[in-house]
Amino acid sequence: MTQALAIVLAAGKGTRMKSDLPKVLHGLAGAPMLAHVLRAAASAGIPRAALVVGPGMDAVGEAGSAVTPDAQVFVQPEQLGTADAVKAAAPAYGATPGPLLVLYGDTPLLRAETLKAVLGEIEAGADLVVIGFEATDPTGYGRLLFDDKGRLAGIREEKDATAAERALILCNSGIMAFRSNAALSDLLSRIGNNNAKGEYYLTDAVALAHGDGLQTRVVLSNAEEVLGVNSRSELAVAEGLMQRRLRAAVMEQGATLVAPETVFLSYDTVIGRDVVIEPNVIMATGVTIEDGATIRGFCHFEQAHIGAGATVGPFARFRPGADLAPGAHAGNFVEIKNSHIAEGAKVNHLTYIGDSTVGPKANIGAGTITCNYDGFAKHRTEIGAGAFIGSNSSLVAPVKIGDGAYVGSGSVISKDVPADALALTRAKQEEREGWAAKIRERRSRDKSK
Ligand code: UD1
Ligand code: CA
Repeated sequence: MTQALAIVLAAGKGTRMKSDLPKVLHGLAGAPMLAHVLRAAASAGIPRAALVVGPGMDAVGEAGSAVTPDAQVFVQPEQLGTADAVKAAAPAYGATPGPLLVLYGDTPLLRAETLKAVLGEIEAGADLVVIGFEATDPTGYGRLLFDDKGRLAGIREEKDATAAERALILCNSGIMAFRSNAALSDLLSRIGNNNAKGEYYLTDAVALAHGDGLQTRVVLSNAEEVLGVNSRSELAVAEGLMQRRLRAAVMEQGATLVAPETVFLSYDTVIGRDVVIEPNVIMATGVTIEDGATIRGFCHFEQAHIGAGATVGPFARFRPGADLAPGAHAGNFVEIKNSHIAEGAKVNHLTYIGDSTVGPKANIGAGTITCNYDGFAKHRTEIGAGAFIGSNSSLVAPVKIGDGAYVGSGSVISKDVPADALALTRAKQEEREGWAAKIRERRSRDKSK
């Protein structure tokens, strides 16, 4: 089965998306639709892919290669139908004995398990397998036709169907598999375009195969899984379904989501056991939350790592490269970027930590800002173990605060502070005794005049 090849059709312009971006590059759960399809294929044991794109869709090939490094890209010059699209990939499938799967780039919810079932049918002797589904509204889909022995005998496109055929609800998802390249090439060579749309229908391969006495089979999937995205609202529906699936998986693995419908995950989010996630949390791509961490409400994460038993939020933002060690705390209105916060350190209130290392058990006071950018370049801040940064301090990078050092509140620190020293840059305090009382007295005298 290692020879299996996925031929992914993606030449469609996606007119209804009203977009400059090719349709299959629109994303959900942090990845383009096409990437979800390729990942499902890869995890079903189909490591190779041939992408069929329209003219000028170079970006589709690049996105495909990001998931499937040796994906081959073929341009279908004109959209003459699904059979013609498959033919564009002939150099790839011609060199692949089989099996060959035809997938659509705009069905991002397709699961690896279903593709495995398709491959299983081929292993069990099928020559051609179609993924079918029962549609609540079959309008627009090809209907599956069976012979009197219950074998799949053909697919009738909506526009070519009789009224009786239109009443059928078992539909073609579009996903099809062929045992061998010889069978595929032969069937394709016999498909014409004498039909209502004047297109070369890949679906005609089924009746031809059945007529040849080949074994044709159907694998059923649920309608959700083969949902094709044609518009922004369908994209939103697909996103919703994908989110439900991702949330169910992390809960299944032992995380508590207090209000799952308000937590948004990415395809690659990793969440450990006994993690508690409060409402309204967003995980963009590249996020790992280790066992036992608590994520309080209204936090946003991207390419960040939260260690075991750490506590974050509410209202915290973890940007790329943020790494909170086990047991550390990051509280409300804290933003952390490209920084390591070591074990037991606390960054609890209204703080920006960027391009920094914060040592174990250091305490970062409210309102501390690492000034990591001077308008030209980024610089690092190093805060030692057990250091104490007083509230409302600015640490002007590059700068190092030694272990156990103490920065007085309100300081602007632009020179390194040795270990265990106190650094203080604020102006000396002055008191004028009785000043306030005097002013009040003068004011009330002026008013009564
Ligand atoms: C197709 C099926 C139909 C099925 C439905 C499921 C055919 C003839 N019909 O119909 O039985 O129920 O999908 O959604 O196959 N594409 C190309 N080049 C082309 C034509 C299409 O790359 O020349 C791509 C499109 O980008 C799309 C996919 O193939 O991803 C399906 O094409 P589309 O025109 O949407 O087919 P349907 O008419 O919906
Ligand atoms: Ca379609």
